[in-house]
This record gives sequence, structure tokens and C-alpha cells, in this order.
Amino acid sequence: MAAYDIAIRGGLVATAFGATRCDIGVKDGRIAALAETITDAAQVLDAGGLYVVPGGVDSHCHIEEPSLGGYAKSDGAPQLTVNEESFVTASTSAFAGGTTSVVCFIPQWKGHGVLERYRDYRKRAATGMLDHAFHQIISDPTDAVLNEEVPQLVAEGVRSLKVFLTYEPLHLNDAEYIKVLLTARRNGCLVTVHCENYDAINWRTQALLAAGMTGPKYHAWSRPRVVEREATHRAIALAELVDQPIQVFHVSCEDAAEEIARAQARGLKVWGETCPQYVTLTAADMDRPGFEGAKFMCSPAPRDTAEHLRIWEMIRRGTLDVVSSDHCGFTFGTDRGKAVAGRDASFEKIPNGIPGLAARLPIVFSEGVAKGRIALEEFVKLTATNPARIMGLYPRKGVIQPGSDADLVLWDPARKVTLTNAVMQHAIDYTPYEGLEVTGWPVTTIRRGEVVMRDGKVQAEPGTGRYLPRGPYDLVKPRGITPDGFVAP
Ligand code: URP
Ligand code: ZN
Ligand code: ZN
Repeated sequence: MAAYDIAIRGGLVATAFGATRCDIGVKDGRIAALAETITDAAQVLDAGGLYVVPGGVDSHCHIEEPSLGGYAKSDGAPQLTVNEESFVTASTSAFAGGTTSVVCFIPQWKGHGVLERYRDYRKRAATGMLDHAFHQIISDPTDAVLNEEVPQLVAEGVRSLKVFLTYEPLHLNDAEYIKVLLTARRNGCLVTVHCENYDAINWRTQALLAAGMTGPKYHAWSRPRVVEREATHRAIALAELVDQPIQVFHVSCEDAAEEIARAQARGLKVWGETCPQYVTLTAADMDRPGFEGAKFMCSPAPRDTAEHLRIWEMIRRGTLDVVSSDHCGFTFGTDRGKAVAGRDASFEKIPNGIPGLAARLPIVFSEGVAKGRIALEEFVKLTATNPARIMGLYPRKGVIQPGSDADLVLWDPARKVTLTNAVMQHAIDYTPYEGLEVTGWPVTTIRRGEVVMRDGKVQAEPGTGRYLPRGPYDLVKPRGITPDGFVAP
């Protein structure tokens, strides 16, 4: 019998600490050896001329997510509506783009608990092929949810609570946000935060609508940079008060990133995530003719090309250390997705979110490494190692070292591909990146030692994705420091 199940030979193996040309031996789904030469294997993959990088960890994906408003009425009967991407289609898309693990969201509806949705969502996620962990959205922080249900979720391996500071009906006020921070602190969880000011956006939206400014482009006008900066500042200040680590999601602009940089300089445990849309799309995309602009509508809104460069600078400085997709697909040509309120709907009625699971690694590599903005090891950090560390999945995920899961991508650094919807292999009928040319492409994706994508052909059995329960981890331990020394019990 061969010593290894697979040998990956002759690639440039990249980790967050540098790159070395060596062979990789895989046994029982794990990395068993890194050595100059490994030949004794049942299957040999030639990685000559290729990079070998850790399978992407996308720590911010909305997949088959039951609608945030809860039950929709259909023919008078209550019916659960779900986000249009299923775990099977999302897995296909993720593997096509070199991602092997995701962290996605369990919703909470006002007036409901969280455990029932957790059980339902575990079942949904188990139908796919991606390894998966969960964030729990908290939109109704009752004592029963925070004191009784959250500890049970934590025992089940859910270690991050997600809060929205905007969006009807999800947003929390400051008092509610503080309660969630305290609960996270007591239970050893991370808090992830959507930072935009709800009241300011509401006021702006009403003013724009009253002035007849209703098209998709006014989405960006309803939420300028300052509403993101203000909420980021507030989210950090309250987390500092409570001494609770947070990750600020989908940072779109330097103004918000500067708040994170200041917090990090003070030693706070505050991390910043950005997304490919904030280095490629602009507000002008939402000004395309007719309803077309809806394809690019997400929150925070894409800014402009000068902002793209500032985001890269914040990535280079390490202020923003994770690039997630915020994959949140709504179809364009149906009456279910972007056009659910009609193709003439005013901007505030158009669902927010864009698909991007498969595009994430290629865009970060192409815009980052191929254009000389970041090194290969930074690419690995941003797309795999840092999300795994911050989410408590490291070193099982996000690194190529003996003992870690054999989630690997054979990456052709020179291949040029034009992004099209067909290439994305998702269930959504468009990609906001249509026509974007990228340099660098995943040619083979391996999940736990199994080749699940080769040359664009995804070959994985539905139902083979594994749940990734997360235990306690040091990164989310409070620092033990508050502004005045008072620590709430
Ligand atoms: O527009 C976005 N980002 N939609 C997804 C939900 C969220 O805010 O993360
Ligand atoms: Zn968000
Ligand atoms: Zn999101």
C-alpha cells in the first residue's frame, strides 16, 4: 500500500510565512508531509509551474439563508423564503473559484429564538459540499436568547455573533448592541458588525424619495462614507467599553478603515474585513441604464476608483486583513430576486447584495499579486489564513502544514480568464464582474484530500461538506483592559 493517498509534486507551496518549492503528501484527508520529494502515493498530481495555496476560507457568505424578514405570506399560508443560492450551487461555485470552507449566517427573526433556526440551518448546510461554520445573527437580543440560547449555541460550536447597526428589521440600537457584546464576552465569542448608521440612512432615503430621486444610483447617495465611518467609530468605542473583540465587516472606504487603524494602534482587538467589490466596483455602476444598476447594489455601497487604491493601502498596512466575498446572490431576470418589488421599484426596495464566491480569490490575486500590490503570502493571509485564525478554524483550515486538512488549490499564476456568469457556476443569473479580465486562476481544488474541481469541472458529492464546530480560542479572549478599569460582570 502506498504511503500517501495523494502526492502533489513540484509546486511552489505558499503559506502566510513565505513560499517553498516542495512536494506535499496527503493521507486520510490531511496533510501528512512536506518534503523535497514524495513519490510513494496512490495518486500523483503534477504542480510544476503552479502555486499551491491553502483552500480559500470565505468567512462572510449568505447561502440558502432564510429570509431576514421571516415568513412570507403566499396564498395566505406562511412560507419560509430563502436566499436563492443553495448549499449545493454555492459549493460548486466556491470550488470553481478555489474556496473550500465558508462561514455563513443563521438568521434570527424578531419575536423568535435562535436554536430552532440553528437546527434547520445545520440540515440545509449538510446538503452541500463545502466545509462550513456559522455566525448567529442577533436581531432580537432578549434575555432568553442571550442568557439561555446563546450558551447552547456556543456548546454546539457557534463562536461568532453577527449584529447589524442598520437594516430594517435587523438593526440594533446601542443598548442592544452592548448587550450582545457582553454576551459574547461571557461566552468566548467574536462579534462581527455591519457598520452603517440606521437613522442617518433612513433620513437620507426619505429625503431622496421626496425629491423624486428613486433609481438604483441613489442607493449610494442614501449611505455616503460618513454613515459608515460614524457607525464604525461607535461599534469600536462600545466594544472598547465592554472589552470585547470585534470584526468590522465589509469596509468600503478609508474613512472607516482609519477608525479601525486607530483602534488597532491602541491595542484593541478589532479586525477589519473588506471585499472584492470595494476594489473593483464603483457607485457609477449603479448608474447604468434602467434597472441594470441593481446588479451592483450592496451595502456599504461601492465608492470610486480612488477609493479602491485607498483600500489597497489599508490592506497593505494590515488594517484590513481579510477579504471575504459577502456573497449574497439575488437573481436579476426573475421576479424573485433584485426585481421582487418590480423593475421600477425605488432603490430602497431592491434587495442588497451581490454574488461573488467564485470571483473572490481570482480578483484578490489578479488585482493584488499580479498587479504588484501585495505579495503571494499576503494573498494567502487575506483569503485563507487570517479568516481561519479570526474565526477559530486555524490550524485545521487556512494553512499548509502537517496535520491540517488537505484543502489545497493548484493555482496557475499566469492564466488569463475573462470573468463571465458561466465561469462563476453559481445559481444566480448574472455576475457583477462580467467582462473583468483576471490574471491567475485555480486549476485544481482539493477539499480534505479529494479533488473536487479540475479545469473548471466540479466533481463532488452533495452532502459531503462537514460542519466545523469551533471551540474556545485565544484570539477572542478579552484583553482584560477597559477605559477606566471597570469590568462589568
Ligand atoms: O449588501 C449586502 N452586503 N448584503 C448582504 C447582507 C449584508 O449586509 O452583509
Ligand atoms: Zn452587512
Ligand atoms: Zn453580508
